[in-house]
Amino acid sequence: MAANDPLLQPYKLKHLTLRNRIMTTAHEPAYSEDGLPKERYRAYHVARAKGGIALTMTAGSASTSRDSPPVFNNVLAYKDEVVPWMRQLADACHEHGAAVMIQLTHLGRRTRWDTGDWMPVVSPSHRREAAHRSFPKEVEDWDIERIIKDFDDAAERMKAAGLDGIELEAYGHLLDQFWSPLTNDLDAPYGGSLDNRLRFSFDVLGEIRERVGPNFIVGVRYTRAACRVLLGGLRDARLGGLTFWTQPNSWHHVMADHAVTFCVLPLGPDRTLLRTTWLIHKDAVEGVDYDPANLLAVWEATNRQDAALVEMTQAGVVSPSYEPGPYSPFTEGLVEDFCQWYVERMGAGLRG
Ligand SMILES: Cc1cc2nc3c(=O)[nH]c(=O)nc-3n(C[C@H](O)[C@H](O)[C@H](O)COP(=O)(O)O)c2cc1C
Repeated sequence: MAANDPLLQPYKLKHLTLRNRIMTTAHEPAYSEDGLPKERYRAYHVARAKGGIALTMTAGSASTSRDSPPVFNNVLAYKDEVVPWMRQLADACHEHGAAVMIQLTHLGRRTRWDTGDWMPVVSPSHRREAAHRSFPKEVEDWDIERIIKDFDDAAERMKAAGLDGIELEAYGHLLDQFWSPLTNDLDAPYGGSLDNRLRFSFDVLGEIRERVGPNFIVGVRYTRAACRVLLGGLRDARLGGLTFWTQPNSWHHVMADHAVTFCVLPLGPDRTLLRTTWLIHKDAVEGVDYDPANLLAVWEATNRQDAALVEMTQAGVVSPSYEPGPYSPFTEGLVEDFCQWYVERMGAGLRG
């Protein structure tokens, strides 16, 4: 099974061959000391490399500029002292066969002014960010020029430290604050049309590529609504999600742009019907506002994997050497509830 598991097959990312398809995505463990990833930070990532992942995305939102003050003890990628520490971390993970990247960002308005060097936060509009409550200074030409150079310098530091690449964060931070007309009040060349609003990101990416050369991974992490027409008159696609379970056999996951409902129905002792329904706004037009392949992809893959697991379990259950044991009272309560409900339902079906 392991030999055929798609997750365990090597993956080619540009020139880089990853040993499988398992990575840890960026998340800041807040272990930096003075903004530097020292011993504890290194140990955290080396443990994952030893465990067998293919790629560890270090940091979460490592800061590229002084006016992107850290909000959760982020790595300060604008400091030159970061290089020897990142080198030690990268060397140690490479020794265990894992590739190493780092997520770099300028937080824009998504931070506070009264941390770090107490500098005003900047954004393409004065509009306040709800979570961190700063009123940003609107970026001026010289800010843009300086911040682009800061991105390039930070990328170059990571290349000097021997990392395999970098990823830029673009969901809620400065890059995509330029993208949205809700957070970009600038005039041309960085505000106005969509092309203008994207210009800052392309300038950053172009300059970084020029600085680091071709053999270094440069990526962007961003999210995109699966459907452009939002549900229920909502105005922001990035509201997160609401999941509610209707036990024992169904659950529902509602996001701003679509909802997914999922239920499992017993058909027989060895057959189960699994039904997933995707709901979008009634006025959304296929091919214009949403692409069904994109909307369904994640859940279809999840359902296929679940089906394979269930088949494997069923093969075990019907083998002559199978002996049922008790469910774990700590982790399998929901499984037990489901089975009980399943049996009752089957019984009801047989009775009438
Ligand atoms: C404490 C914490 C900090 C995180 N920081 C970042 C971050 O800085 N940048 C980022 O892109 N994602 C960040 N994430 C999101 C994770 O990369 C990931 O998408 C999230 O945990 C969901 O993945 P999961 O379903 O495997 O838990 C953070 C997550 C956690 C738990």
